[in-house]
Amino acid sequence: MHINGQPWRTIWFEEADQRVGIIDQTRLPHHFETRYLSNLDEACTAISAMQVRGAPLIGVTAAYGVYLALREGHADLAAVCSRLLATRPTAVNLRWALERMFQSLQPIAESERPQHALALAGHLADEDAEACSAIGEHGLGLIRRAWEAKRALKPQAECLNILTHCNAGWLATVDWGTALAPIYKAHRAGIPVHVWVDETRPRNQGAFLTAWELQQEGIEHTIIVDNAGGHLMQHGHVDLCLVGSDRTTITGDVCNKIGTYLKALAAQDNGVPFYVALPVSTIDFTLEDGIREIPIEQRHPHEVSHMQGLNEHGQLTRIQVMAHHSAVNNYGFDVTPARLVTALITERGVFAARRDSLAALADFSN
Ligand code: MRU
Repeated sequence: MHINGQPWRTIWFEEADQRVGIIDQTRLPHHFETRYLSNLDEACTAISAMQVRGAPLIGVTAAYGVYLALREGHADLAAVCSRLLATRPTAVNLRWALERMFQSLQPIAESERPQHALALAGHLADEDAEACSAIGEHGLGLIRRAWEAKRALKPQAECLNILTHCNAGWLATVDWGTALAPIYKAHRAGIPVHVWVDETRPRNQGAFLTAWELQQEGIEHTIIVDNAGGHLMQHGHVDLCLVGSDRTTITGDVCNKIGTYLKALAAQDNGVPFYVALPVSTIDFTLEDGIREIPIEQRHPHEVSHMQGLNEHGQLTRIQVMAHHSAVNNYGFDVTPARLVTALITERGVFAARRDSLAALADFSN
């Protein structure tokens, strides 16, 4: 995708300096800064401190982390993978990428592992970008049909209104994004889209990242507080919801950023289609019941009690936004049951959120 008109990916390998480049997402939207990862510690910190985030990008960063660890001389491949796996618990793409690295590297002689690890990490990055582009194509079909149906009912309609939560754009992947990929493709195909962007407290991935991405691509959007979606749906201002996922069960339960479930409930109550876009690597074929079985990350209470922004001197700063001493919970994700999901958009096509539909995808998970 583009930043100031220049094409970028979220992660890349720099041959000249033999290091892995990332965009530091903790600084956006106010500062666009790149960082470089040169060892296992830096890769682990990048994921846990959310310099990189979003399920697919976490997986690819972990793959590069394996390469950096082997290059540093860490001989115990299983221990390296365990360390990276512990950085964030919910997004299954992390486990998926590490399993692919482990299975491919284990049979190889230790001296040859680093070069294979680098090649495989690059391959996973390319694969993710291709998968997200294909998700965009399949989602574009749904958006086109929704726009044609709206125009047939309301010839004066000016745009298709899509609500999204958190950031499931290209910053959350290597390129294109999941939920935002169909929106980018629709925009390029000339379909007038307008995006309602949930701010997504506490870390504001919607207000900070999704809005920034949409700006870069010139797409109409409006940031709303997290509780506004239901009201907008009641008044007919949302044509469809489109979100990403961090882990989806074989039965179609969808785990995504905290607050997604409430949007799905409001969507069902108002007859608004609720789509989830995800690569097959986000499906956990070992799980049946998302609510009981998916581990939900709890992050530091400071993310709730403090907020980051620009002060009156234009400096990036953190301020406390609530009284001292109140207890704070910071659940990162929730689970939307399959019954609330209209369909899942994957790189292999559009699937019902049901076991009989998703089972066919198991063969493509590796
Ligand atoms: O905590 P984050 O910012 O990593 O959470 C990201 C999300 O919840 C995204 O919606 C999800 O990873 C899908 S990304 C394409």
